[in-house]
Parts: sequence; C-alpha cells; structure tokens
Amino acid sequence: MTLAAPFAKKISRRIFLQSLMQAPLALFLAGCAGIGGGESGPRAPGLGAQARRQNRIYGAAVQSWQLKDAQFAAALKREAAMLVPENELKWDAVHPAPGRFDFRGYRRLAGFAHANGMAMRGHCLVWHRSNPVWLKAALVRASRGEAEKIMEQHIRRVLHETAPMIRQWDVVNEAFDPQSERADGWRETLWLRALGPGYVPLAYRLAHEADPDLILVYNDYGLAYSDRGGHRKRQLVLRFLERCMRDNVPLHALGLQSHLDPSRPLAGDEFTGFLEQVRGMGYAVLVTELDLNLARLPGPMAGNITPAQHYVRVYLDMLQKTGAIDTLLTWGLSDRYTWLREYWPHIEGALPLDRNLNRAALWETLRAGWLG
Ligand code: XIL
Repeated sequence: MTLAAPFAKKISRRIFLQSLMQAPLALFLAGCAGIGGGESGPRAPGLGAQARRQNRIYGAAVQSWQLKDAQFAAALKREAAMLVPENELKWDAVHPAPGRFDFRGYRRLAGFAHANGMAMRGHCLVWHRSNPVWLKAALVRASRGEAEKIMEQHIRRVLHETAPMIRQWDVVNEAFDPQSERADGWRETLWLRALGPGYVPLAYRLAHEADPDLILVYNDYGLAYSDRGGHRKRQLVLRFLERCMRDNVPLHALGLQSHLDPSRPLAGDEFTGFLEQVRGMGYAVLVTELDLNLARLPGPMAGNITPAQHYVRVYLDMLQKTGAIDTLLTWGLSDRYTWLREYWPHIEGALPLDRNLNRAALWETLRAGWLG
C-alpha cells in the first residue's frame, strides 16, 4: 500500500466529528457500555482464544526479530492464534539471488508458531514491492517463457517449504491501481510489463498446481472508502473476481487489508453491496491487515483514539452485514512495532495493544465489534 505524506490530506475536526455523529446511536451506546459477548478487561482471555470459541481465527503480522523482545513474545502468545510474516516471505527476503532461497526468517517464525500452537498464513507470492534487484533486471530482459519459469520456480519452492505450516496464501497482492493510466486499471508492475495481465491468473494456477489443497487469496487495500479511488477499486476487483469465476481460476477468497484511515469516509451501502456480490460468487472474505491510522486526523492523536473506535465499529458492522468474518488479522499487535511508525514516528492507537503492551481501545473494539 502506498502511503501519502502525512500532510497530504487534512480534514477539519468539525467534519470528522460530524461524520462520527452519523454512526447509529445504538452503536455508540453499545460501544461505551462494552455490551456484547466475550470477555473484557486486562485479565480476559486473548483475542485469539476468544475467537477460537467461535471457530474464528485472530492473528497478527510479526517479524522474527521482534520475538527477541520477551515481553512482546509473551503478549503475542497471549493474544494471537495465527501469525503472518510481515516481510519474511516476501520475494526479496526468501529469494535474494536467482535460484537461491533463504528461509531463515520464516523458519524462526514458524518455529515460534509451532511451539505455541499457532497457525500461520502466507504473504505474499507476487507483489510490485519488496522485490530483489536481480528480479527486476531479469524480468526486463526475459522472454515470456523465461518470465513464467522464474515465477514458477519461486512459487513451487516457497510453497514446498511452507506447506506443513501454511495452508492459506495471499498469492497476488495489490494488482489494481485506481490511478492507473491504463483503462483496465491494472497496476504497472514488473510482472505486468513482462507478462501482461495474464500474470495474475498464472500465479493462481501455479500455486494451485503446486499444492491443490491451499486456500488462495487475492489481497488488496482501500476497498471500503466512498471516494473515487475506493469506488474504482471496487469496480476493478469485482470485474476481476467475475472473470476468475468464469475462467475457473483457482482463487478462493478476497483479503481486505483494512488499513483504516478515519479521515476518509466509508462507502456504506456501496461497500456492503460490493461484499454481497463478492460473497454471492462464492468467495470468502477475510480481514488480513487491519490497523488504524490516526495521523491524518486533525488535533492531537491521543484525543482521537476513542472517537475513532466508532469508525472501526462501523467498518466491522458493514463487513459482517453480509456474512461472518472468520479470519481477522491485524498488521502488528502492539504500537511498539507498527509499520506506520516508519511514516509517523509518534503514531498511537494503531493496534490492539499500546506501546507498553497493555490492551488498548482497538482491542476492545475488535472484541465487542467482531467477537461480541
Ligand atoms: C509493509 C511492512 O509492514 C513494512 O515493514 C515493509 O517495509 C513494507 O511492507 N500492504 C501489504 C504489506 O500488503 O505487505 C505491507 O507491509 C503493508 C501494506
């Protein structure tokens, strides 16, 4: 996901508060009272354990170096039932030179997950970012056949390595760009240039051939917003999913990244209508990377943490209007380690735990809004 500079977009505090007022009163009151099933408070079971009681999975993205922080590792054990490597299965991490693979980071995470009875999900096989220099250079020169071979070797080797732990993969990540110059909306990527839009179904077919029992996911961001970008992204993804159905592409689920930016209004009925159509075609819907970015809101960040929960609550309600969300992952567990800090060093309220690993507002919002 491309993040604009923090100063790129500002809305006034009045507009932000007005948009919150549109949230139904009942929702607001329920949020305040913490009404709903499950258990609240610092001693309650973790989100993972509470989700499991409902046959659901809560998980978090993590990087293996973070496990050296013993307090953080303990918090992860307490809260998460699934891990996704934040970076350590991306192409530049696992395939740093042609034909040379490095799974050390992944194995550290898989060992931790295994020792603690956690599942893992895979992220991601084909993306326009986090690619090694050699791949970019090779794809510029490659014939169609050579480019296909490179993709095939990568997918086969990575799925072979991860097969015992990982049964669900983001195969292609972020293939559409609403701002694309192209009428068909495909993002300009190294793979698009080498193979045209057929690179996407190819990746799914290769993954399916390598391991026919895997659940294969298409993962993207910005699908819930009411602005033009959101509208266009929904159209593009919907048409893509329809074509995949028609052409029997082995694609099973849509992953909504859910990097939530409360300065952008949500699309309401248009978003739920989109989800209805997606589910109507038989695709599952999961939340793969939820976090909350308060940095674009006016006023001090700490003052926005509580009001922004209503935005998250409305989002969760919209998601669940058309069916259950069985799997939900946050992109990190604690504000101590969030990618948003690469852009906004003082970010707060982004994740279920605060920097001190205490349960924060988002923890309770997920509990009440998803598990309540
Ligand atoms: C991000 C990681 O969190 C960062 O550490 C890394 O520098 C860049 O990638 N959407 C995705 C994720 O699908 O892979 C991205 O992860 C965040 C946006």
